[in-house]
Amino acid sequence: MKPYVSDRAPAYTLGHAPEEMDRLLLQARLYGPVTAQALRQAGLGPGMRVLDAGCGAGDVTFIAAEAIGPGGSVTGVDAGPEALDLARARLRDRTRGSGPGGAVGVGGGGGEAGAVDFLRATLPDVVLDAPVDALIGRLVLGHQDDPVAFLRRLTGLVRPGGLIAFQEFDNHGLRAVPETPLAGAVLRGITGALCAGGKDRGAGARLYSLFRQAGLVPAGISATTPMGGVEDPLVLPLAVHTYRTLCPRVSATGLGPDADREAIGDPATVGDRMRAELDAAGAVLIMPTAVTVWATTPAPPSEAPVNIP
Ligand SMILES: C[S@@+](CC[C@H](N)C(=O)[O-])C[C@H]1O[C@@H](n2cnc3c(N)ncnc32)[C@H](O)[C@@H]1O
Repeated sequence: MKPYVSDRAPAYTLGHAPEEMDRLLLQARLYGPVTAQALRQAGLGPGMRVLDAGCGAGDVTFIAAEAIGPGGSVTGVDAGPEALDLARARLRDRTRGSGPGGAVGVGGGGGEAGAVDFLRATLPDVVLDAPVDALIGRLVLGHQDDPVAFLRRLTGLVRPGGLIAFQEFDNHGLRAVPETPLAGAVLRGITGALCAGGKDRGAGARLYSLFRQAGLVPAGISATTPMGGVEDPLVLPLAVHTYRTLCPRVSATGLGPDADREAIGDPATVGDRMRAELDAAGAVLIMPTAVTVWATTPAPPSEAPVNIP
């Protein structure tokens, strides 16, 4: 795969500061099994040559490597050098003493993984030496100014009859059940900050229509919503970490009702207070729904039969 590195600014507004990279890793631990299952259901399988668009720290790349096995290869592409440094360091850790992509373990395959490499490029400006069998991406389409044009351009990198599968979040269902005041304020702060950043409540619910607008006929959709109480090791820490990453934006813009900002108080202690509140109420936190849509690229028109008079 030949990279063409554009000098266009990357579109990722959350940046790649260490706190954001930590948040992405936490998020990837919660959603890894969901992504692995959805990609296998979409048809990602042995021997494929794959491009992972907007790979970040490489979590989806590693999941794909496990799904395609030793005969396949996957290239993670990202515009952020910090994200790629972390992805490459993780790849080195995984490959120590194992196969080309290392043992990954998140997808439940447990076997050897396919070859992995990472490239820096601002998509869709990438040139490949040959089309891939599959184009995948998680939480990347929603960050594009023109996701339809982005999808159309990247579709051109996939061989006819190949797979295109993207996963995005839908944040409409984010809540605690039963509702509790502090959790409600924090979750409203998160969705408010995301919307203020020019995003709506996640591209998940729009993914099907994005595919259609890009000229792709969706072959399948899956949607999974993780949820968990205070004993869950990932759900509450991820919600709190996400709030802390986004809260400078909340306070800078004065987003949300004053009552919410007062209820939330000091971001440094919000996690402990939220845990106590949820525990006392016996409440569960309902996290963003991971929506995956997949399609097959159109096969080239078969040659017209020649009529011999
Ligand atoms: C929310 S992160 C998701 C990372 C990874 N896919 C995951 O799910 O863990 C989005 C990533 O996409 C990258 N990205 C966004 N737009 C991009 C573009 N046009 N070209 C290359 N990378 C892009 C960002 O740099 C960021 O690392």
